[in-house]
Amino acid sequence: MEKNQTSDQMMDKIVSLAKRRGFIFPACEIYGGFGSSYSYGPYGLALKNNIKALWWRRFVTDRDEVYGIDGPIILNPRLWQASGHTEGFNDAMVDCKKCKKRFRADHLVAEATGEDLEGDLEKLNAVLHSGRVVCPFCGAKDWAEARFLSLMFKTEMNGIDGPVYLRPETAGAIFVEFNNILDTMRPKLPFGIAQIGKAFRNEIVTGNFIFRVREFEQMELEYFFDPEQEWEPLFEKLLSEQEAFCLDLGLPAESRRRYQHPQEKLSHYSRKTVDIEYTFPFGMQELFGMAHRGDFDLKRHAEFSGQKLEYFDQQAGRRFVPHVLEPTFGVDRAVLAALLSAYQEEAVGDKEERIVLHLPFKLAPVKIAVFPLLKNKPELVAKAREIYEDLRSSYTCEFDDNGNIGKRYRRQDEIGTPFCLTVDFDTLEKGEVTVRDRDSMQQEKIKTETIKDYFQTKF
Ligand code: GAP
Repeated sequence: MEKNQTSDQMMDKIVSLAKRRGFIFPACEIYGGFGSSYSYGPYGLALKNNIKALWWRRFVTDRDEVYGIDGPIILNPRLWQASGHTEGFNDAMVDCKKCKKRFRADHLVAEATGEDLEGDLEKLNAVLHSGRVVCPFCGAKDWAEARFLSLMFKTEMNGIDGPVYLRPETAGAIFVEFNNILDTMRPKLPFGIAQIGKAFRNEIVTGNFIFRVREFEQMELEYFFDPEQEWEPLFEKLLSEQEAFCLDLGLPAESRRRYQHPQEKLSHYSRKTVDIEYTFPFGMQELFGMAHRGDFDLKRHAEFSGQKLEYFDQQAGRRFVPHVLEPTFGVDRAVLAALLSAYQEEAVGDKEERIVLHLPFKLAPVKIAVFPLLKNKPELVAKAREIYEDLRSSYTCEFDDNGNIGKRYRRQDEIGTPFCLTVDFDTLEKGEVTVRDRDSMQQEKIKTETIKDYFQTKF
């Protein structure tokens, strides 16, 4: 991220680049937008898919003891009663009586006093009406009564009485398949069940681009273990892997920190919760999280479903309810942090400047761009196409013959393409192409027959 810029400037630059270059668009723009929702364009989708693929590899396919699932978005509403979401998944909101803007009451109070009063309506109201909290929009101090609003999105389903909900987290869909995974995969503890998918929260206030939205994606792992096993080393191991995943995203250690939730703020069933916070331009904020959830979820789902959710340890002849650790990741926050961390404005010579995304190669939407030097020379275009067709079976490539080479480089820099390969007259005469490195901007000539080997060493 560029230093010495205001938060708004930096976010404006990312939002503008994301739109200009086909990463992320405000959704339904032709209708004036809608509820702070966003569409991922071709490069944003590629980036997001690369992030999800890296996560899936690190947390699922590279491990023997983790099983992937893909559950429904609309689940049996009993599940959300059991998990406590129907009753208790609320945020306190408050309206400014003067300008009528709506805010998260706990955020306003935290900004004004530094106190974290999330969930404590009485204390929030006391602070709001003490005259210490100013409306960030109009400067008034005249607040309506703060009250809880449910974050659950309600809908209906034919044949079902009463409301059903869009899932507010992917975790619920995992717990209810506990027995199916036991029966089909016969795992030994500790083992995990993982899922990537959409989650929906009717947030009171959205903002900071894709940081807080109402429809987003999560990558979650429920990691079950024997309660007689020491949990601290497991917790630390999973947390370290979350941090290793941050490195995959190009987020250096100095850009983030661990924030351990104070004991008195933990849910009664949790022994420990740690957020991984990232230095977003608008402050250090939660990127990912990690929680010890004890046996709360399995016990509650057993109670509400009337089914046993237990593990039988054959060797020890013990039957028990496993405890669970939950590393959780927001995909959209991962995309935002990766873009922010990769973004640089750099001088090129004395007069020019370029914008470049130094994305880790694995995240880059396009790995190699192939150019013919001149669009109007059919022999150059044909050779460039031939090389492009050959490379695209191994790498995500893009063919571009628009504008001058300088402009094509700038465009690829802005989408973070690690290498540009140009076919020029030396290709036809000497069998050489020019490869230009995104980060160093160095160019080198390589023989056409070595192209594949060359990129194999680079990727
Ligand atoms: N199952 C646990 C759980 O859902 P959470 O901290 O509420 O925990 C997990 O959410 C992650 O989902 C967060 O760390 C964040 O990355 C992401 N997330 C949560 N609310 C979000 C929102 N409104 N917009 C975008 N991402 C969100």
